[in-house]
Amino acid sequence: MDETETPSEAKRTTVGPASVSEYLDPNYWNDRFTSEDHYEWLKDYSHFRHLIHQHVKPSSHVLELGCGNSQLSDELYKEGITKLTCIDLSSVAVDKKKKQLLSKGFTDIKVMEGDMLNLSFPDETFDVVIEKGTMDVLFVDSGDPWNPKPETIKKAMAMLQGVHRVLKPDGIFISIAFGQPHFRRPLFNAPEFSWSIEHTTFGDGFHYFFYILKKGCRLLDTDVGVKKVDQPSLDLFQDELDNEDYLFRTNIDELDDDR
Ligand SMILES: C[S@@+](CC[C@H](N)C(=O)[O-])C[C@H]1O[C@@H](n2cnc3c(N)ncnc32)[C@H](O)[C@@H]1O
Repeated sequence: MDETETPSEAKRTTVGPASVSEYLDPNYWNDRFTSEDHYEWLKDYSHFRHLIHQHVKPSSHVLELGCGNSQLSDELYKEGITKLTCIDLSSVAVDKKKKQLLSKGFTDIKVMEGDMLNLSFPDETFDVVIEKGTMDVLFVDSGDPWNPKPETIKKAMAMLQGVHRVLKPDGIFISIAFGQPHFRRPLFNAPEFSWSIEHTTFGDGFHYFFYILKKGCRLLDTDVGVKKVDQPSLDLFQDELDNEDYLFRTNIDELDDDR
């Protein structure tokens, strides 16, 4: 992307996969990132900046999961949140991201290959763990969203256990997602986690979810801490899943009119 171009003007240079299950294949991401320089899943930073500032301080040590070629870390850095580590499973994404950051002089952002299902960081390393659209990938072949396949649950739990482990005792997990609360909450709410669960939404027209999980703040009944929203239409969810790639479809202009 040209330096003068805003994130929302960035063009997709690749097409989606033939099947959504390819999103679970690292080769898909390596191929895609070879030809694509910048793409923001869900929404770019400007749409949820106000929410980030409520929860992330300049002194926070932040881990971003599945950075891809998003400019989320660049935007955080520009706003003084500079203690950043980004991981991605794709070696191509990591190499390109390192070069892009070097060219901008953002050399103290750490970018490394890593699997969010098996985080290699020591316990209690980060104040904030953040992901945008990365956890959603785990659900692309989950089957019935009300009753996901055991493999899907296993992967999601491995991710959440790792996030919980690497968060400091008062750390925060921010999940920016397409996945709706009635599907996410049962996972976030597993008894082994000490975090409280809140969420809000952002976006015009189609809304995305911004989950805030605060470690060490679990209430006796965490459901009390979950803000209720109207239950979205399952038809929409199924429609998104059944089409070429539901994650792409959350970006199309028909679903929002604010670009
Ligand atoms: C939907 S994209 C989101 C990219 C970026 N977060 C954004 O908002 O534009 C998913 C990203 O997660 C990465 N990814 C998929 N599985 C992963 C895993 N197990 N560990 C780390 N990264 C993973 C992919 O390579 C891809 O970059």
